Amino acid sequence: MDIRIYDDKHALADAAARLIAEEADRDGFSLGLAGGSTPKATYERLAELRVDFSGSTLWLGDERWVAPDHQDSNGFTARQALGSDHGGELVVPDWALGEPETAAAAYELALDRALGGRSPSLVLLGMGDDGHTASLFPGTKALDVTDRRYVANWVDDKQVWRLTATVPFLASADLVVFLVAGESKASMLERVIERGEPFPSRVVAEAASNVVWMLDASAASRLGRPL
Ligand code: 6PG
Repeated sequence: MDIRIYDDKHALADAAARLIAEEADRDGFSLGLAGGSTPKATYERLAELRVDFSGSTLWLGDERWVAPDHQDSNGFTARQALGSDHGGELVVPDWALGEPETAAAAYELALDRALGGRSPSLVLLGMGDDGHTASLFPGTKALDVTDRRYVANWVDDKQVWRLTATVPFLASADLVVFLVAGESKASMLERVIERGEPFPSRVVAEAASNVVWMLDASAASRLGRPL
């Protein structure tokens, strides 16, 4: 397992941005964007480094069921942090369709078109302290979907709809990069990485062919300790 540990969140963001920049330097590149707060520093670093995504497709590994300009929208966060000069095409779900599953199905088709039927090149993922990744939360139905690439997922614990890529779609990427930072993730990382407990982030990592875990020291603080 390829685990890379960085002193702090800034070093993590810089290393992640440089890895993405290196991977992006090819035709037909696509980048699945992680949601949540951790990757924001990476997106801002990509903008600072003026990484050129011309000819590339950027898409959302998952999205909250909110308006596209809502502060909780992953697409909104990505647009804000990446800026508008990167040259890439950011493909996001169409919230105006009004129903989560309708929007997920339409997004699935839009991604097929945008990716030209190819597997994703690079997918960024985060991990929640409950072991979820994208919007694949423990015990939710989307975790068991194998015949779709993108679905709506009811998250009972949060009483919200989410749109999410499925395990097989995420795992089909040429490269999956988990970005995990902060002390609050240390315990779950120990369970997922060292004990191999089948939380959604572990399920995706095991299904993928090429995975890199990029962690800051705080998140990695419980790795390598005697169990
Ligand atoms: C989301 C994300 C989710 C996120 C984790 C970690 O929409 O919230 O896709 O999977 O990556 O919850 O979030 P933080 O980086 O904010 O801890």
